[in-house]
Amino acid sequence: MDNKSSSNSFFIEKEIPEFAENIKNLVAGFLANDDINASLSTTELAEKFQFKEIPQCGVSADQFLDELRELILPHSINTGSPYFIGHMTSLLPNFLRPLSELLTTLNQNIVKVETAKAATFYEKQALAMIHKEVFGLSDEYYDECASNPDISLGIITSGGTIANLTALQCARDLSLAQFGNVEEDGVLGALEAGGFKRSVVLGTHLGHYSLVKSLGLLGMGRGNYIEINSDENQGIDLVHLRRELEKCRREKIHVAAIVGIAGTTECGSFDNLEGMAELAEEFSVYFHVDAAWGGALLFSEKHRNCLQGIKQADSITIDGHKQLYLPMGIGLLLFKEAKTAQVISVEADYIIRKNSWDLGRVSIEGSRPAKVFYLQAALKLFGREGYGSLLDSCVATSRQMSELVDSQAEFELVTKPQSNIFLYRYIPEKFRGLEEFSDDVNSEIDDFNIRLQEIQKDKGRTFVSRTKFSHLGTSKAKTVLRVVIANPLTEIEHCREVLQDQIEIAKDLKA
Ligand SMILES: Cc1ncc(COP(=O)(O)O)c(C=O)c1O
Repeated sequence: MDNKSSSNSFFIEKEIPEFAENIKNLVAGFLANDDINASLSTTELAEKFQFKEIPQCGVSADQFLDELRELILPHSINTGSPYFIGHMTSLLPNFLRPLSELLTTLNQNIVKVETAKAATFYEKQALAMIHKEVFGLSDEYYDECASNPDISLGIITSGGTIANLTALQCARDLSLAQFGNVEEDGVLGALEAGGFKRSVVLGTHLGHYSLVKSLGLLGMGRGNYIEINSDENQGIDLVHLRRELEKCRREKIHVAAIVGIAGTTECGSFDNLEGMAELAEEFSVYFHVDAAWGGALLFSEKHRNCLQGIKQADSITIDGHKQLYLPMGIGLLLFKEAKTAQVISVEADYIIRKNSWDLGRVSIEGSRPAKVFYLQAALKLFGREGYGSLLDSCVATSRQMSELVDSQAEFELVTKPQSNIFLYRYIPEKFRGLEEFSDDVNSEIDDFNIRLQEIQKDKGRTFVSRTKFSHLGTSKAKTVLRVVIANPLTEIEHCREVLQDQIEIAKDLKA
């Protein structure tokens, strides 16, 4: 066969049985292993990826499979391991894998209805289902939305970053709308027309870095994220927030939005959303809630109270690929008011026509896959209660593990889990029992914890992550170990082993 006809055969043949079987075996092998990673450092691994030319003629499928089998899979992170309890990426439910085949086969492009007919409505329907869960409007309202192409209750994005970026784009444009059309004429004209020196967004120092990145992209400047201190519970200090809002009013600084966090990345804490909503109303500012992590707790009867006040937000980010147990690349942005997104809508004759159902009209991304299949499947197969029980079990395990940490002399609990994330650190023996730690001692403890975490990571059996944490946002930041329990199959016995590994590593380090 010449090269052209062998390439064509990949299209002509409907199936590629041997390849499919081999991939199935690779999947089974990967799933059977509890280890997190083969112990090879990133430097050693980088050496295995020397530059290669694209082959002139296609190689055999077997050669490609060998590459996956030998070079890629053994050095991929087993994010589904019950011992992998340090990041927000975790085990996925089994029904998603076959569904991904269907998604690739259909290859719908959600940007416009001409390339994604049923999927367009499937997405609108899924967003309405989640919208109702948060904002609880009437069934009649949602029926009306379903038959109106101009209404956007939300957008499915590739993740929390794009959801936050889109929310802040809407916030910036709406809050400046009385002074100018920002999408058409840019930010500067509207700011000048309003007599403002600058435009800012306010949120705590625990805000995700996507917020700062968004301000850069939106031409508002990364430096215009005003960091508000946190309180004893790592939630926003409302007194400080009020003070800054008053200052902005006095000094003629434009406030594009205040951002509340429901489940901070670093320690899983929740801002007082009710208190923030009241301030947003008093100062007439846009209120966005970044619930990328904690939003899924809506499904938990036990822990939904963490989100008290969320329905007063103008927009909300919830990540699908975090606690909705969906694969990488799914975020959700919800709008309280269906007309919010109109401020950023854009049309083009060849792709997104006026009055069409084209969902690309309000999304930053253009072409995008119909990831809504995953969302619909999970909402339906788990149901509210199923989601609730998965989340409840992760929160319960986190609490048990934090108690275990607190009870062991080797560790210091730094923050308690408000949901399923908490921080702690290892205290070397010579410092245990001290009333207070000086800056020098703290920096020695920092170094110890960095080395401990690195060694544990390289060994590849168990894993927690690490970060720097500053109490209230004002104290000197300490290096801490970070636990995220997102895998419903992680049990306290796994956690005990993770801690035992650390104790063993610490012994070797001391020696
Ligand atoms: C609170 C919060 N917001 C936003 C994001 C960004 O989400 P993504 O990584 O999906 O873009 C994250 C990610 O960890 C997050 O924790």
